[in-house]
Amino acid sequence: MRATGQTTAVTDLRLALDAAGYTEEAVTGLIGPWAAGQGDVVVLRLRARGEEALAVLVRLLLLGLPQALDPVTTALGSAGLAAAEALGVVRCVEDRCVPLLRVEPWRDLLLVSDLADDSGRPTRPDHVMGVTASTAVLADLTPRSTVGTVLDVGCGAGVQALLASRHSRSVTATDLQPRCAALTALNAGLNAVDVDVRVGDLAAPVAGERFDLVVANPPFVLGAGAPGWGAEEPVTDRLLSDLPALLSAGGVAVVLANWSYDPAEGPEAPMLDRLAEWPGDRWVILLETHDTPSYAAGWSRGLPPARRQREAAAWVGRRSSGTRHVAGGVLVLRHRVRRGWTRVDDGRRVPCRPGPRFLPAQLAVEDLLSDETMLLRAAVQRCAGVDVDVRLDHTLVPVSVRVAAGDGLGVSLWSDPGLLDVLRRADGRPVADMLADLPAGIPARAALLAVRTLLRLGVLEPAEQDLAVRR
Ligand SMILES: C[S@@+](CC[C@H](N)C(=O)[O-])C[C@H]1O[C@@H](n2cnc3c(N)ncnc32)[C@H](O)[C@@H]1O
Repeated sequence: MRATGQTTAVTDLRLALDAAGYTEEAVTGLIGPWAAGQGDVVVLRLRARGEEALAVLVRLLLLGLPQALDPVTTALGSAGLAAAEALGVVRCVEDRCVPLLRVEPWRDLLLVSDLADDSGRPTRPDHVMGVTASTAVLADLTPRSTVGTVLDVGCGAGVQALLASRHSRSVTATDLQPRCAALTALNAGLNAVDVDVRVGDLAAPVAGERFDLVVANPPFVLGAGAPGWGAEEPVTDRLLSDLPALLSAGGVAVVLANWSYDPAEGPEAPMLDRLAEWPGDRWVILLETHDTPSYAAGWSRGLPPARRQREAAAWVGRRSSGTRHVAGGVLVLRHRVRRGWTRVDDGRRVPCRPGPRFLPAQLAVEDLLSDETMLLRAAVQRCAGVDVDVRLDHTLVPVSVRVAAGDGLGVSLWSDPGLLDVLRRADGRPVADMLADLPAGIPARAALLAVRTLLRLGVLEPAEQDLAVRR
């Protein structure tokens, strides 16, 4: 299914929503933060009162509330309303307009998905989800280097595919659910993007093809398949096995995953074991950890209290051992001929939303860090937006320094004031020259360690770095 088609209805709906100012910024201005499960639906509905066009559309298309026909006709115009009906987004019966699908403005995209219930849970077995917290996490942790070909596995409403179309030559999207493929095709048209949409299990529809970037937000919830947990089993393991055959040389996969672990061993241990044979570089960004009760209670949120208690208890009971916890995170995997580097980051402490330069830059940084000769030759400079906080004693002598990247995983570094000497010398000269120029009393080994740490934090970067993914 190739989604280039700008049917008249798709064009008319887009024009009508644009004319009504139905953008993420305007909607947030009206009802506050709402995307990706933020916001209490009761509060959002109260804020969306009023008869102006935007409020009517927010109630109808975002909050799923039937509206009187006249204000909807005024808000969308008759061509826009006819288009919404023709596309199955709304149904008009006598003087009422009933929403059948959700239309969400998110990051300059317009996304059609299924309406969820008040607690955000699916309303039908083949539910096509809109933007959720996991959608946003994957979107934020995908390297946005310019690439040739992209594959979005488990595309749902097609969000990741549409975002990837902004920095690639061609995008293919697959999903097991024909309804997901259909809505991805609709969303591609609505956003004037070309996506090759295919139906099937994981990589089966693209067998034999290779991609420069693979993104996947697959069903990852452990224990799914039980009542209240969604119909699907996690497919992460199968997907990880498929990936080497899907990636071109130097290609990168970004996959969301949950896995269980023994707290005595640490959350990353089983995932690193699972990836031990990965042909290339592996980067695990840990985003959350839970004991089994909190994991079970979290995923049954929104159910009526008695049912939630019952289902969470059943889930905990099904786990073979009470000592195993659950970790969640993002796997960034680069395919290479040889075995490469391994990195683990802890992104649990802060909202983890690095800017677009950080992830591509870090792939280049890790290449440098894994070869000390290359590192010493590399020219490095301070990144833009670095925050430096110097603590002084009562005689105004610096006693400690805190540095934080403007664009990283949100981790800051505390150090002694010697770090300022290292930072000052990071002006585009090679690392070896920086080390040769340090004041007496700062050992070169310690300074080199500081350079390595600052590069990983995103405080320093290779000068004139090639942000394109290395082959
Ligand atoms: C969590 S949703 C992700 C949707 C979207 N990519 C996003 O980031 O918002 C997971 C999607 O994977 C699809 N899926 C589940 N099992 C699959 C399989 N075996 N092969 C392909 N897609 C699958 C589901 O239909 C669903 O659309």
